[in-house]
Amino acid sequence: MMLDAAHGSPNAAKLPRPKLPTRLRSQAEAFLVLRRNPLELWGPPAYRELVLPGAFLGRQQVLLNDPVAIRHVLLGNHENYVRNEAARRVLRPVLGDGLFLAEGEAWRHQRRVIAPALAPRVMPILSRHIVAVSERFERRIVASGTGPVLLMDLLQLLTLDIAGQSMFSLEMGAFGAELRGLLFRYAGDFAKVGLLDMLMPAGWTTPLDRGRARFRQDWLALMDRIIAARDAQGEPKAGEPRDLFDLLRAARDPETGQGFGHALLRDEISTLILAGHETTAVTLFWACYAAARLPEHQAAIAAEADGLDLSEDGAAQSVQKLVFTRAFLDETLRLYPPAYLLVRQARQADRLGALPIAAGTVVSISPWILHRHEAHWDRPDDFDPGRFLPGATPPDRMVYMPFGAGPRICVGAQFALTEATLVLARLLRRFRLTLPLGDAVLPRGLVTTQPDRPVRFRLAPRDRAP
Ligand code: HEM
Repeated sequence: MMLDAAHGSPNAAKLPRPKLPTRLRSQAEAFLVLRRNPLELWGPPAYRELVLPGAFLGRQQVLLNDPVAIRHVLLGNHENYVRNEAARRVLRPVLGDGLFLAEGEAWRHQRRVIAPALAPRVMPILSRHIVAVSERFERRIVASGTGPVLLMDLLQLLTLDIAGQSMFSLEMGAFGAELRGLLFRYAGDFAKVGLLDMLMPAGWTTPLDRGRARFRQDWLALMDRIIAARDAQGEPKAGEPRDLFDLLRAARDPETGQGFGHALLRDEISTLILAGHETTAVTLFWACYAAARLPEHQAAIAAEADGLDLSEDGAAQSVQKLVFTRAFLDETLRLYPPAYLLVRQARQADRLGALPIAAGTVVSISPWILHRHEAHWDRPDDFDPGRFLPGATPPDRMVYMPFGAGPRICVGAQFALTEATLVLARLLRRFRLTLPLGDAVLPRGLVTTQPDRPVRFRLAPRDRAP
């Protein structure tokens, strides 16, 4: 089956969204909403207007929905707009000096080394790992019977396993529980931005920072043990890379010839595992949620996947043919972007059109808002994969940006899309997904865009051979 924009996809449909506030909030209220669910913070003007200046906790702030201004911040003058201090405090315990938090020349060097390891030509290697883990996951679902399952929990295990296996070719059995335990501790205790994280100047230590420093020691010790287990497996045969670890260890900066030392390699591995697994898990969760609410779309994905070779050998070729599945995921990433807010801080004074920007101004660009903005989309709240089918006009890169934009665009986007497309196609051709209670599930902005409560899905085997 081949779908394109001219022949249409199943009918567009509405999915529930959080209610918008009807009045302006005080700073104290805004802080509480920020902690509960940032997606409920912005009122109707944010979805209508292009530039929304304001102030929060004594700092100049601006929310940008204007593609010209966004291009300036993320591309034209991107070196002036760096990650803010609160993000640094929260993420440093796991990401260390790795690519996500690096700036300036250190960032350029790391990006030059890492980007080729995640380029499209590497996808055949990664697809094999994706399919191997996905197969184990499907077998576990079959073995657990047809009772309702907490799919988000399973998807988090699945994507962490894929991240671990793609990185190290190791089944994460030996380390998976410890890795998950540490990530759970981090998410519970340290990943939320506290008031002091926002107020304290760079270099000052908050009580949470002390806990984060202890956490970092435990994290690094685990990474060292995983790397030692991987080293014990020896060099790849005939120089053929088996996984991301082989690729990263052999990678050299094409400009300087330099590779990564042990400490930086460990931070890059941590960065790729953390930045990659949770974002892909929530993408798959919202895709499954949309598929369960929209049975016609679900049937179209199952039909498209039927007959394709989605095995370890065939997946890298077949993924190109999953055109509707990919458009369905693109639309899922529009309405439920896992990274709902990109925050930058101006190093030096600047101008955004007529708006003067003082040094220190916090500039927010929200894929969540941009993707539902009245000026940028026809029927913004309708779920319609047809927007992304071949033949449709592609959206502006500074408006549709689930992976960010400019030089700091997600380095793992190709991997994430390959993974989500293969896992979803395999899952939906094998199982029919329903929500037994059929309730509305709303997105909640935590580190990523999560469901607001645990959701049970029923997965009934379809009548076909796997
Ligand atoms: C659906 C899944 C994913 C989404 C939605 C996503 C989203 C994003 C976004 C929005 C950014 C830019 C952040 C900013 O500009 O502030 C980003 C950066 C990044 N992502 Fe992803 N990501 C995903 C999967 C992955 C995967 C699988 C990996 C690694 C294997 C990864 C690694 C990174 C890294 C290292 C950066 C920082 C790049 C830099 O600063 O140069 N991401 N991601």
